[in-house]
Amino acid sequence: MEMQIPLMQNLDLQGLRTMIRLDLNVPIEKGLITSEERIHAALPTIEIALSKGAKVILLSHLGRPDPEALDGSFSLEPVARKLEELIGKPVCFLTDWIEGIPDITDELILCENTRYLKGEKTNNESLSKQIANLCDVYVMDAFGASHRQHASTFGAMQYAEQACIGPLLCREIEHLTKALSKPEKPLVAIIGGAKISSKIGVIESLSKTCDHIIVGGGIANTFLLAGGKETGKSLIEPEMVELATRILNLNDVNVSMPIDVTVAKEFSNEAIAETKSIEEVENDDVILDIGPETSIIYQDIINGAKTIIWNGPVGVFEFDQFSNGTRSLAKAVEQNSGFKIVGGGDTVAIVEKYNIANSISYISTGGGAFLEFVKNGTLPSVEALKSRNKV
Ligand code: 3PG
Ligand code: MG
Repeated sequence: MEMQIPLMQNLDLQGLRTMIRLDLNVPIEKGLITSEERIHAALPTIEIALSKGAKVILLSHLGRPDPEALDGSFSLEPVARKLEELIGKPVCFLTDWIEGIPDITDELILCENTRYLKGEKTNNESLSKQIANLCDVYVMDAFGASHRQHASTFGAMQYAEQACIGPLLCREIEHLTKALSKPEKPLVAIIGGAKISSKIGVIESLSKTCDHIIVGGGIANTFLLAGGKETGKSLIEPEMVELATRILNLNDVNVSMPIDVTVAKEFSNEAIAETKSIEEVENDDVILDIGPETSIIYQDIINGAKTIIWNGPVGVFEFDQFSNGTRSLAKAVEQNSGFKIVGGGDTVAIVEKYNIANSISYISTGGGAFLEFVKNGTLPSVEALKSRNKV
């Protein structure tokens, strides 16, 4: 890439406290990691740093805990144990690290969830400086979190003695730039999942380049509500409805929305699933998947695509009775012979669950970051690294 930012691979890290911000935000259920993909993706970076003789300190967030109410279910401890197993080297897991990190030479260090710290998400200046002071070299390699202007992804790099870009972030940007430079048409985007405010903005810019945008999950619910439909108790971000309405009113927007849905009276893996046309949704229903007629329409759109960009499930695919929509899209994507890019934690989990990895042209570790890159062609962390290195 036109990357004048120093690359970690090119630096002499011998004996240096090398802090690597990774995205180890993996799904964990009852203490068990259900998709290891992001950990595997981070291994080469860690191995390169170790082979250069660095004292490696790893940082990551996990989930979205409230720093005012420390909830142990967001601990990175299971990730520490998994890393240990995969690297074959002891991993020292530090719960209290912000006040100082011990000088350990023969072990890797993984620090507890950065989002347990007050000031992380607000990019607090003194927290950023505190993080920066714990290292000699700061390495930004958390592609999946590179759209977040937080203390550990954005602030710290501005104060660290040296700051550079890691191999994963660099590789992601190179691949995405190449893949998105001249996509063959028709170009279809599938945007689903629960993080509505992180993703809805991308729809507006995607509609300039995409022939079709397929929506599902919370994004679809928000558009349905904006279009005057009953969405009951479904996942919505009310403050996003206005933006959704504006997007729907744009002339050139080609958003395909569900015409039928699978609903239940509660969000649970024991909930009884019922399929309804969109007009039949009641005010106590929770929409948990697209319906079979919508699946057929979406599959047709996918079949005609020459390029597909996919982020986010269209239903709660973790629960069997609400997985049909996402599974049918996965099958259609698998059978499509065009160029296919998928990204995001859940989407990578879908690829694994339905065993379609071999048919995908490029799998990105980022979800929101991937969409932000699609939208803007760059990312805040990368821009900050550039300006910090004055290029
Ligand atoms: C992701 O899962 O997309 C990244 O880890 C970022 O997480 P966030 O949306 O909670 O910032
Ligand atoms: Mg995610």
